[in-house]
Amino acid sequence: MKELKIDVTLSTEKKQKPSFDNLEFGKSFTDHMFVWNYTEGKGWHDARIIPYQPITLDPAATVFHYGQTVFEGLKAYLTKDEQILLFRPDENMKRFNRSNDRLCMPELDEEGALSALKQLIQIDREWIPSGEGTSLYIRPFMIATEAFLGVHPANSYQFMIILSPVGAYYKEGINPVKIAVESEYVRAVAGGTGNAKTAGNYAASLKASEIASENGYSQVLWLDGRENQYIEEVGSMNVFFKINGEVITPELNGSILEGITRKSIIELLNYMNIPVVERRISIHEIEQAYRDGVLEEAFGTGTAAVISPIGEFLWKNEKMAVNNGEIGPLSQKLYDTLTGIQNGTKEDPFGWSV
Ligand code: COI
Repeated sequence: MKELKIDVTLSTEKKQKPSFDNLEFGKSFTDHMFVWNYTEGKGWHDARIIPYQPITLDPAATVFHYGQTVFEGLKAYLTKDEQILLFRPDENMKRFNRSNDRLCMPELDEEGALSALKQLIQIDREWIPSGEGTSLYIRPFMIATEAFLGVHPANSYQFMIILSPVGAYYKEGINPVKIAVESEYVRAVAGGTGNAKTAGNYAASLKASEIASENGYSQVLWLDGRENQYIEEVGSMNVFFKINGEVITPELNGSILEGITRKSIIELLNYMNIPVVERRISIHEIEQAYRDGVLEEAFGTGTAAVISPIGEFLWKNEKMAVNNGEIGPLSQKLYDTLTGIQNGTKEDPFGWSV
């Protein structure tokens, strides 16, 4: 892999690290960050690693007004023999560029960005926690920086990478969460930006999540924006159901994010010879499976939480418990296997770890 030439300015003061025994998700950030500029006609330039600091932007920068921005999320793990492992980082870079394309943003040099990410992690390697369920969360993102209020793709951008030592995403950890089925708000629509990792999708999701939270639910189950019955995602994660021995996940339809954990779980299930299908699945089918006593397990998948079991769905004022609100055997096994591959404690037959 080609090494990106980066200008490095090390910070003169080291920040106080949070306690690695009690890490929350995304609250503290390491000593350094990576910055790379893009200017139309000039391409990518001025790759640099600098001390973590605020950024200065023109108030008219396109990102503030029209939301031209893309992000990714991946994790680094420290193994017992002090190696640093990344999980399928090339997949994140590919998805970054698919998102860029949807948002009319310039193509990122994937190899260069991956090289920058590795160099940054090496510099801040003492920030990688090694306790159970912890990792260094990596947030690459790109923003449109041109100062112009007309609605058009900007002519200048900034790509950055920041790092954050993290623990569990949900306070419940691997314990099952309660999910409210959302029938008023939608996260994304067919033909929209649902399959791009862009800020607007997450902004659009906040209202429903807030209402769910006020009612004691951790997140919502998103239904499609056209017929309001087909399941799309859960919170900010992809979703899987185990019904009568078969695992089902909604097929990718343009409004669902192509999760890397989703893809890995499908590949893992195939490897384990457990039947898995990608197809449209409606909330009515889930309700029927629940009534028939064959809704065996349900779980969300994403980089942040990896696997988040679902213990209850609230649907039309009815509480539908899944596996008596307890973590199911398959969810536990998938969590143990995938996190084991990610943190290097289990064999990786797929060659996913880098
Ligand atoms: C993930 O599950 O990894 C996500 O994308 C959530 C993230 C926005 C924190």
